[in-house]
Amino acid sequence: MIKHLRSAADLDAETATLILDTAGEMAALAGREVKKLPTLRGRTVVNLFYEDSTRTRISFEAAAKRLSADVINFSAKGSSVSKGESLKDTALTLQAMGADAVVIRHPASGAPHRLASWVDGSVINAGDGTHEHPTQALLDAYTMRSRLGRIAGLRVVIVGDVLHSRVARSNVLLLSTLGAKVTLVGPPTLVPVDIAAALEPSTEVSYDLDSVLPDADVVMMLRVQTERMQDSFFPSAREYSRRYGLDVPRMRKLPEHAIVMHPGPMNRGMEIAPEVADSSRSTIVEQVANGVSARMAVLYLLLGGKA
Ligand code: NCD
Repeated sequence: MIKHLRSAADLDAETATLILDTAGEMAALAGREVKKLPTLRGRTVVNLFYEDSTRTRISFEAAAKRLSADVINFSAKGSSVSKGESLKDTALTLQAMGADAVVIRHPASGAPHRLASWVDGSVINAGDGTHEHPTQALLDAYTMRSRLGRIAGLRVVIVGDVLHSRVARSNVLLLSTLGAKVTLVGPPTLVPVDIAAALEPSTEVSYDLDSVLPDADVVMMLRVQTERMQDSFFPSAREYSRRYGLDVPRMRKLPEHAIVMHPGPMNRGMEIAPEVADSSRSTIVEQVANGVSARMAVLYLLLGGKA
């Protein structure tokens, strides 16, 4: 088993499949009255969050607690980080406290890689800048597999702000490893022509959402990340929504079995219409539940659990 999960590229098909299978076993636990396993008793998991998060932070906390680990939540606000302490000094503090795993979310791409050189424990990337978010890709893959029965051969369309999306990057890498066919769709300003080839040569790019929907098994909508935009990437929210938003008439172009995904948080009415987000095709709430199982599997396996 790998020690760190910094990128979806750390996972080969065998390891990724083992994590998904283990997540399935963890999910079975969620239906029981007592949801806890004693597996990580006495181990310490630190959640180190330098960026805002709702789902991911709560999900990692729930996952570690269900495995009986001791959980320390550290958020940059209200810590010595606001006094200017560097990531390295914070890492050395965690190291001194004997963290077995550090889950890190950071605005700088590559922060988890740096952290891994300063601590002895496992480092898990919970989102680094616009770079990667590998556990999101795992929970997305798990959701696809449980809804559609497989990943190999699926046609997955990822739509929107690919440029700023660590979710898109990790999904392209993991889905390609698992044999799915990915198409990136969005305005040219947010889906640069070379981005697909740079990530994974088999990935396709389209600027016309309507033309790719009839062949899709999965449509993954991305949030427009205005907080990471210094320039204007499209004329107006209305224009964006008209061309790249998933509304009900567009959803009807999908095959009967196709599912609609979104990592959250959503801009309802912008990239996704409320009726679509709340429809029976939408897996958005399921993705959150599956996130806990996927992260339990990652923590369990990285900290030495057996398959
Ligand atoms: C994403 C993130 O933070 O990268 N959200 C998440 O983890 N569920 C996507 C986003 O912020 O749009």
